[in-house]
Amino acid sequence: MAQNGKPTVIITGASSGVGLYTAKAMANKGWHVVMACRDLAKAETAAQSVGIPKDSYTVIHIDLGSLDSVRQFVNNFRASGKSLDALLCNAAIYMPLIKEPLRSPEGYELTMTTNHLGHFLLCNLLLEDLKKSTYGDRRLVILGTVTHNPDELGGKIPPRPDLGNLEGFADGFKEPISMIDGKKFEPVKAYKDSKVCNVLTMRELHRRYHDVTGIAFTSLYPGCVAETPLFRNHYPLFQKIFPLFQKYITGGYVSQELSGERVASVIADPEYKQSGAYWSWGNRQKKDRKSFVQKVSPQARDDEKAEKLWDLSAKLVGIA
Ligand SMILES: NC(=O)c1ccc[n+]([C@@H]2O[C@H](COP(=O)([O-])OP(=O)(O)OC[C@H]3O[C@@H](n4cnc5c(N)ncnc54)[C@H](OP(=O)(O)O)[C@@H]3O)[C@@H](O)[C@H]2O)c1
Repeated sequence: MAQNGKPTVIITGASSGVGLYTAKAMANKGWHVVMACRDLAKAETAAQSVGIPKDSYTVIHIDLGSLDSVRQFVNNFRASGKSLDALLCNAAIYMPLIKEPLRSPEGYELTMTTNHLGHFLLCNLLLEDLKKSTYGDRRLVILGTVTHNPDELGGKIPPRPDLGNLEGFADGFKEPISMIDGKKFEPVKAYKDSKVCNVLTMRELHRRYHDVTGIAFTSLYPGCVAETPLFRNHYPLFQKIFPLFQKYITGGYVSQELSGERVASVIADPEYKQSGAYWSWGNRQKKDRKSFVQKVSPQARDDEKAEKLWDLSAKLVGIA
C-alpha cells in the first residue's frame, strides 16, 4: 500500500483508449494510478479530460519501444517510493499500412518490441516490486485480443498469427529479420503475433510464479473497442466503417468506458482472482453480459512454446 493508504497500479499506455478508461475506473475504485506513458503532456491532458482527480494519478515516462527506456521507467518508479500492488500491460501499436518494418533502438522490429518485448522486460523487472508489496491481492494483467485466436470469428481473418518455431527470435531478431517466425514482414501479422506472445507470457508467468509468490497473472479480451485510436494508422474509410460493423453485424463492439470498467474489474474485483485465466464476455456489447474464462488459441496454450518464448525473449531483452 502506498500513496495516501491507497493501493497503487501501474498502467502502460494510459494516455488513450482502454488504458485511459481503465485508469479512470481504477481511480473510481479508490486506487492510485501510475500512468506509464510516452507523451507526458498528452497523458496529463487525457487524465483531466476524463475527470481523474489530481491526487489519484502520477504520470511517469516510458517508451516501450526502447528497452533502455523501460529500465529507466523502473528506476524512476522505484525512486518515487511507491509500492506496487498491480500492473496492467496495456500499451500497444498497430500499424497495418506500413511496408517496411520500423526498428527499436536495439534494432528489433517495433510492433513486437512495443507490444511484447518491452512488456516482457517490464514484467520481469517489476515482479520484484510486486513480490515486496504487502497488499493482500496482487495482480499482473496483460491485455489480449480476439485476433490472437483463430478459433473465434475475429481471429479467422487473414493473416492469422503464427509464431512458427520462433526462428526469428532464435536468430537474434535484427535486420534482415523482422518477424518472430523469421518470414517476410507483414505488419498486421506482427501485431497478432505480438498478442499471442502476450497471452503466452501471462501463462508462463502463472506457471513460474503464481504458486511461489501468490500473485495472480491474468489476461482478457474486453470486446472490440472499435473507437479507440488503435486504428489511427488504418485507412480513414476503415476507421468509419469498423465501429458500425462491430456494432450492427458482429455485436462485438464495446464502448471505451465499458472496456475500462471490465479491465479494472479484472485488476481489482475479487471474482477475477483466478491466476492463469483469460477472461472474456459473451456477445460482448451489453453491459450486463457475464464474463467467463475462455480457452485461448492452440498456439497460446502451447506450454512448450511458452517456455521457449520466455527463454528467447529473456535473451533478447538482456536478462538471461
Ligand atoms: N481497440 C480494441 O478493439 C482492442 C481490443 C482488444 C484488445 N485491445 C488491446 O487494448 C490495448 C490498448 O489498445 P487501445 O485500443 O486502447 O489503443 P490506443 O487507444 O491506441 O492506446 C494505446 C496506448 O498505448 C500507448 N503506446 C503506444 N506505443 C507506446 C510506446 N512505445 N510506449 C508507451 N506507450 C505506448 C499509446 O500512447 P500514445 O497515446 O502516446 O499513442 C496509448 O496510450 C492494446 O493492448 C490492444 O491490443 C484493443
